[in-house]
Amino acid sequence: MSTDPTITLSSGHAMPRVGLGTSKLVEKQIADGIEAGARHLDCARMYGNEAAVGRAVRASKVPRADFFLTSKLFMTELRRDAVGEAVADTLRDLQTDYLDLLLIHWPLKYKPGTLFARDGAQDFAETWAAMEALVKDGKVRSIGVSNFDAAQLEALMETAKIPPAVNQVEAHPRFPNSALVAWCLSKKIAVVAWGPLASGRGRLAEDQVLWTTANMHQVSVPRMALRWNLERGVCVVPRSANPEHVRDCLEAAAGPKLPKADVELLTRSRPEGRRRFPDVIGVWPASANVVCRLLGWWLHVLFSVLFRVCSVDVVALAKRRAIKREATYAAFVKERDAAIAAMEAKIAARAAEGKMTFTDGSEDMSVDPAIDPKLAAARLEMLRTPAD
Ligand SMILES: NC(=O)c1ccc[n+]([C@@H]2O[C@H](COP(=O)([O-])OP(=O)(O)OC[C@H]3O[C@@H](n4cnc5c(N)ncnc54)[C@H](OP(=O)(O)O)[C@@H]3O)[C@@H](O)[C@H]2O)c1
Repeated sequence: MSTDPTITLSSGHAMPRVGLGTSKLVEKQIADGIEAGARHLDCARMYGNEAAVGRAVRASKVPRADFFLTSKLFMTELRRDAVGEAVADTLRDLQTDYLDLLLIHWPLKYKPGTLFARDGAQDFAETWAAMEALVKDGKVRSIGVSNFDAAQLEALMETAKIPPAVNQVEAHPRFPNSALVAWCLSKKIAVVAWGPLASGRGRLAEDQVLWTTANMHQVSVPRMALRWNLERGVCVVPRSANPEHVRDCLEAAAGPKLPKADVELLTRSRPEGRRRFPDVIGVWPASANVVCRLLGWWLHVLFSVLFRVCSVDVVALAKRRAIKREATYAAFVKERDAAIAAMEAKIAARAAEGKMTFTDGSEDMSVDPAIDPKLAAARLEMLRTPAD
């Protein structure tokens, strides 16, 4: 596998192989990621924060043409007449007049105003036709899907005039998803791995094989996990709120080149890392066991009844949550900065009294018990996490 930072999709457009996942991130964190070099931003209507992405992109002063912006249609927006409106809303939020890539987020159609209440036949021919029309209108450059299995993709391709350029699926060393990856690549469908670092919860660092391979090649465990995916031809969209981590991830595209044996060793199937939830809601019906099917059936019945009496606009709800997250983040930064300022004032005052001299903004406050331990802890915490 080359170390070219981009791949060419079946649409003819180039896509950076390493992107930045934007779920749960606030504007400042996205701006820091852009500053660190991220140009492929993986967004979705469901994340609620596309307006924050738009502001960060605009403020960066980086030309629009240098970005690769992806968005994903939510499950209630897959009716032919809803697609155009959803994309228009996303383009407004992202402050742009075109998307580089538009995906169907999940192979599930929910009734508008609901969650889990299925909207008739689960076929995506009409949705796809509406997406193709957006390509024709120049509003979208490439179209694709997310979380589709081979059978679902084959059904879609039967009527598609434009073949899907991308399938974005879960893939990391604890869940290689190898069969689907190989199938997609054989059909010239680029694969983008979501959760490439096992969403930070998959204890990648405790994986002995991964850890040893990373040590051998003298790179961080996350970088090794990304390199492994890239080496087998899979693009990645890791999420990080820390610009140092974003840089680390972007550098994964440059190497080191992994020997085939290492790639194979890391590709051993370890399905325990897989999330079961999609099986429950029937995204991958072929792999769902009886318990998942039963649970899924109950969820479907429960939510169908619930949404007969109430309705919920999930995208609007997500947008409200993202605004709340911005406020929480701003409050945290304010509190942290106040603690730091108080600490620095105290240090300066003590230095002026001639009681202490800090020549290097010393990190170890514990040497002086007279210093407020809460402020010292805040200062140490700040030093431990230099970026938010
Ligand atoms: N299509 C779908 O259905 C779907 C589903 C889920 C996710 N996604 C997309 O995939 C993106 C990523 O997936 P994810 O959010 O599940 O998580 P992920 O990227 O697998 O993991 C994120 C975690 O990894 C940490 N991290 C990132 N880079 C690191 C580095 N270089 N060193 C150490 N730690 C690092 C982050 O912590 P720090 O913030 O501290 O760096 C964070 O805790 C999402 O943001 C979204 O865009 C798509």
